[in-house]
Parts: sequence; structure tokens; C-alpha cells
Amino acid sequence: MTDRYAVIGNPVAHSKSPWIHAEFARQTRQDIDYGRIEAPLEGFARAVDEFRAAGGRGANVTLPFKQQAHLYCGNALSERARTAGVVNTLIFDGGGWRGDNTDGVGLLRDLTANLGRAVAGARVLLMGAGGAAQGVLAPLLQAGPARLVIANRTADKARSLAQRHGASAGGDYDALRGEQFDLVVNATSAGLENAAPPLPAGVFAAGALGYDMVYGRDTPFLAMARAAGAAALDGTGMLVEQAAESFQLWRGVRPDTAPVLAALRGR
Ligand code: ATR
Repeated sequence: MTDRYAVIGNPVAHSKSPWIHAEFARQTRQDIDYGRIEAPLEGFARAVDEFRAAGGRGANVTLPFKQQAHLYCGNALSERARTAGVVNTLIFDGGGWRGDNTDGVGLLRDLTANLGRAVAGARVLLMGAGGAAQGVLAPLLQAGPARLVIANRTADKARSLAQRHGASAGGDYDALRGEQFDLVVNATSAGLENAAPPLPAGVFAAGALGYDMVYGRDTPFLAMARAAGAAALDGTGMLVEQAAESFQLWRGVRPDTAPVLAALRGR
């Protein structure tokens, strides 16, 4: 029987995950079916229960359910999902389930392996303090940046996140005045509303990269990075890399991400 997987979110109609996992399955000759489940905003747990009962073997979780997925898993969490407080990958086996988070490793792999950017020794700015930021913070810190500052519109959230994880500093955007960063990661959802975080001028160091975790659109933040002379990239590479890591957790084989990423980028 074909093993079933799905991405659960709201909305999910435009998710590229089904296409990516179908490509991985073709490449590695795995017999899987990967669909989309749009759960009602108040109905995440029920949607997961139903999918498991129907024989689902695993799922990716996307906006706005990553925190709820963490709750759903109780204590059945990987170390990195526990640290992050958010779950993007559910694994169902033998009547049980567990949660993991592959977003952080996906971002790191895109930055270092695909883009050739070192996080070790770099000055890193992480913008946002919601689920997306939480998912990547600990892996970014583990990569050994010279400095990692968290900025958020609601400064308290950035401050407490920075304290909890031992980042260099956390606060509002104004506090960034006079600082420069080699890597500026946008983990806010501002791009989805066609807005940009209120970054002060001058934060991009020479040769910096502006990276938006939102994928498939040219966000105002990316335009801002280009205008400041920085390189600018959306989160397509992170999307493909986190998917590969999830695929490996489920299937025990690692797909080759390069052709899938190239096809998505339309090269
Ligand atoms: P996600 O799971 O995508 O992180 P979230 O938990 O709702 O979603 O968090 C959204 C993040 O984007 C928050 O850090 C939010 O800032 P606040 O905590 O101040 O709300 C940030 N954000 C959303 N729209 C923004 C905007 N227009 N400018 C700056 N930050 C924005």
C-alpha cells in the first residue's frame, strides 16, 4: 500500500511541499502519496487525528499551526523540537507519534551548503520572534556566529527569546542603529502582507546577505536589501532543504536537493 503524507496548514493551497516530496519520491524510488490538508483554524488536532486514523505516516506542519503541533506532541519530541518550541514535522509509527523540527537545519544547509555563506564568525541579525524565528534560532546559535541579535516589533518577545537561548541581544528595531550585520534573516511574516520590518539604514555590512524565510515572492525586505547593496534571497532553498530532512526522517533515504531547487527556481 502507498504510504500517505501531507502538509497541514491554513492556507495550504499554494504550498509547494507536495510537488517537492513527489520529486524526492521519484528520485529515490519511494512509493508515497503526499497531499495537502487545510485544517480549520480551531481544528488542528482533529485534522491530525483524522489523518493518522486514515493511515497517514507523517506530516509537515506549516502556518499557523507549528506551535499547536508542539503542544500536540506532548513529550514525544526530538531534542531540537523541544528546544525550538515549534514542530514542523510529525512522524506517525506503530500507533504513536513524535514531533521534530527540520526548519533550522534546512536554513543552515541552504546558507552554508547551497549559498556558501559561513554563519560561524558572522554577525547575524534575526528579525521576528514568532514561530518561524523560534524554529531557527538555536541552530543558528549552534553554528557559532560572532554575534546574533534578535529584533522584533514587540521588543519584549525578542528580549525574552534572546535571554532564553543565550543570544547576544534582543530588542526593537531602533536598537540596531549603528550596528552592522553580515547576515540578515527575515523570520517575520511581514512579507506576506507586502510589508517590511522597520530596519534602520546602514545595518547591511559590505557583502551582506539579506535572506527572507518567506518563499516564492519578492518581498519589500528583499528590495530593501538590494537597495542597500546586499545580496538578497528568498526562502526557496530553505523550503527544499527542510523538506529533504523531513523526507529522510520518514523514509530513511536522503534525496538530492540540487535538481529540485533548480527546477523550483525555474533555471
Ligand atoms: P510565524 O510563525 O510566521 O513566526 P507569528 O508567530 O505570528 O508567525 O509571528 C509573526 C512575526 O512577524 C512576529 O515576530 C511579528 O512581530 P510581533 O511579535 O511584533 O507581532 C512579525 N511581524 C508581522 N508583521 C510584521 C510587520 N509588518 N513588521 C514587522 N514585524 C512583523
